[in-house]
Amino acid sequence: LGVFLLPSLVGATEIIAHRGASGYEPENTLRAVQRAWEMGADATEIDVYLTKDDKIAVLHDSKLDRTTSGVGPVKDFTLAELQELKIRWKDELLEDETIPSLEQVLAIIPEGKRIFIEIKTGPEIVPALKRILDACTLKDEQLVVITFNESTLTESKKVLPNLKHYYLSSGKKETIDEVIAKTKAANADGINLSTKFPITAELVQQGKEAGYDTYVWTLRDKDAELVPQLIEMGVVGLTTDFPDLCRDWLPTE
Ligand code: G3P
Ligand code: CA
Repeated sequence: LGVFLLPSLVGATEIIAHRGASGYEPENTLRAVQRAWEMGADATEIDVYLTKDDKIAVLHDSKLDRTTSGVGPVKDFTLAELQELKIRWKDELLEDETIPSLEQVLAIIPEGKRIFIEIKTGPEIVPALKRILDACTLKDEQLVVITFNESTLTESKKVLPNLKHYYLSSGKKETIDEVIAKTKAANADGINLSTKFPITAELVQQGKEAGYDTYVWTLRDKDAELVPQLIEMGVVGLTTDFPDLCRDWLPTE
């Protein structure tokens, strides 16, 4: 055992940059992921879609319109076509940034850091995901799959059993009992809940009793008071647009 242990393994809170350090850089870009490491994040979260040519692209929306120079559904384009587009950020088109492929993001995950890959599609993406993850040099311990989609979670865990899988919930339509039941049904490893759930010590304890750690998304720049409260409740990881602020707000460990 040495200095390369993942923070979650040594009981410290894991700070996960949401779409990279998206409070400071354009979401889901290589620039945002790089900034997350510069800010001391322990992990980055990204969102992924299957392309028309069976590759995986990194962006949040199923359509190109909000964050790129393109228009229409991601799935209608090949990866090469997607990578000709520019990233739209703060009403400007960026000259030097495009939609990353999953491989490009995997290539900038440093030793000892994790990547939370949020699948935004159905299970049809899983064969491509397996092909890409099998070919990458990261350790299994560095790769995490998260999704709101129960059938995707089930299929991904079946095909990639050595990777940690966490069930995402916004809390809008689900109770904690339902979240635990769905996590169990998918054979997943943990739960990843919205701050809007809302999170309570009892809820985190219920998860723990079922064998699941609780991760929480998304902490923002107004959450200075909430962060230490979540840690006190037993939450093990925080997904945040502001990894630097979130780290500063942690109680002294
Ligand atoms: O990490 C989970 C969180 O990212 C889910 O919401 O909309 O930001 O993908 P969204
Ligand atoms: Ca996400």
